[in-house]
Amino acid sequence: MASFATLAPLAPQTTTKTFTSSFTTTSPTISSWPLFSKKCSLNNSLKHKVSCNADNSFDRRNVLLGLGGLAGAVNLSSIPSSAAAPIAAPDISKCGTKSLSGFKQVEDTATVKGTPTGGDCCPPDSSQILDFQFPKNQAFKIRPAAHLLSPKYIAKFNLAIKRMKELPEDDPRNFLQQARIHCAYCNGAYTQSSSGFPDIEIQIHNSWLFFPFHRWYLYFYERILGSLINDPTFALPFWNWDTPAGMTIPKYFKDPKSALYDPKRNPYHLNAVVDLGFDGKDKDTTDIEKVKNNLGIMYRYMVTNATDPEGFFGKPYRAGSSSAGSGSIEQNPHVPVHRWVGDPREANGENLGNFYSAGRDTLFYCHHSNVDRMWSLWKMMGGKHVDINDPDYLNTSFVFYDENKNLVRVYVKDSLLTKKLGYDYQRVDVPWLKSKPVPRAPRSGIARKLAGTVKQTNDVSFPVKLDKIMKVLVPRPKKSRSKKEKEDREELLIIDGITYDSEKYVKFDVYVNDEDDKEASSPDQSEFVGSFAQLPHKHKGKMESKASFRAGLTELLEDLEADDDDNVLLTLVPKSGCEDITLENIFIVFA
Ligand code: C2O
Repeated sequence: MASFATLAPLAPQTTTKTFTSSFTTTSPTISSWPLFSKKCSLNNSLKHKVSCNADNSFDRRNVLLGLGGLAGAVNLSSIPSSAAAPIAAPDISKCGTKSLSGFKQVEDTATVKGTPTGGDCCPPDSSQILDFQFPKNQAFKIRPAAHLLSPKYIAKFNLAIKRMKELPEDDPRNFLQQARIHCAYCNGAYTQSSSGFPDIEIQIHNSWLFFPFHRWYLYFYERILGSLINDPTFALPFWNWDTPAGMTIPKYFKDPKSALYDPKRNPYHLNAVVDLGFDGKDKDTTDIEKVKNNLGIMYRYMVTNATDPEGFFGKPYRAGSSSAGSGSIEQNPHVPVHRWVGDPREANGENLGNFYSAGRDTLFYCHHSNVDRMWSLWKMMGGKHVDINDPDYLNTSFVFYDENKNLVRVYVKDSLLTKKLGYDYQRVDVPWLKSKPVPRAPRSGIARKLAGTVKQTNDVSFPVKLDKIMKVLVPRPKKSRSKKEKEDREELLIIDGITYDSEKYVKFDVYVNDEDDKEASSPDQSEFVGSFAQLPHKHKGKMESKASFRAGLTELLEDLEADDDDNVLLTLVPKSGCEDITLENIFIVFA
């Protein structure tokens, strides 16, 4: 088994050039990574010709993403709103967590030393705030795949967490203080008062702030762990759930004597293959099917549904407004993995299954290390895969405590390059790139056959409830587009104004041209478009939240040979917590 130590020397090969967003034939891509390229030629399951030669990576990306000639890609998120304003870091002295009191049995688990009481998410206050500066001469860190750790590394990791848990309760570096950070930024403890909106909460999920917030959060967590064991090279492992060998909870998290242990996890999942599309209850699928479905889900969320920045990062979120829509990876697999680990015996799916408690499980940080890795991978895929350049995004700020207990203000703009922050990820195989879903029933003509039987969206009186399976024909503003048109603009399915109960685990699945009523297509089949998924969390004063769903259809309709149809047949299948969902609109646009 490869250990972290043997792979560490890869670091110098990854120059900043990897992150270039310009579209040249020589820019390195994932296929040119040492570990990827080897396997690439062995398993070529794509229908199209794929070359694993770095010089041909241009073709590969075109094939995968349908994005030829996009050097000057338009950044859809770059159009500022009229009331442009970044969200400023919260004033933590005003932190308040009354909003949590409505939660079901959020108990005070005071039996565990230092556990924050259920209703208390606030960190210690600080009299001064330092502005973040990139450390000089910092040691470079390679975050290793969690299932590939050497025994030595596991021991080091364990010791660092143990020391973090042993710190005095009121020390901001204490493990449970670290857990509070997540609760505070997510459960209405902070308002936008620093930006002039004291009545609007800060919510770091369900928008473009998801990736940068969590990147900064892990950055300081990792630095604190390193300092507690005097090892500035200590790097937070990533739970590699996107590769078959990494799809179970790493062993060392399950030893009750380990500092990494958390009793509040689903006991049936401790040795199971993770379900990246978890519905809140276990499905009757074999492990092999689960792995295939997981890879299909990864492909959907890293490739098909993330063709541009808004698709990947989520919707804009500015001062004075509420978060309004998560990006692809935030929904899947990020949310289902949380829920899959969380303990169903607990009232609110604690710990990982609920945002307020998620940070209390050590696995949370390794889960998010892999989520953060997806940001890096996505950018290496080229084309429109670039960071958002909207000033409101870049100038959003947060505060965190560092390893010296200083409160530090950070900006989104300083989080974009992991290399600048002094870390990178171990290079491992990326099997989902080669796991494009295949059609279950190509050229079915189902949308044509059902015209007249199934309603078209124009005839639906919105808003509609989603308390049962819904089938509807969605008209396509344009069909049979040319190759060039497809390269320029993605055909996007939008489900807008999704209102849901934010205290529930909510999930519904979305299919296009799916024929069978009895058994829906699986995520390794083209007919599966994706899922809307939300983890429970409390909002101030109201239980309803609003979001939207967005998915790319261009490649999928080509694969289904349905590109000349006037409509697509959309099937929405409620899976969890959908009793109170309403949808305001469903339509197709090109962007
Ligand atoms: Cu802040 Cu995985 O959530």
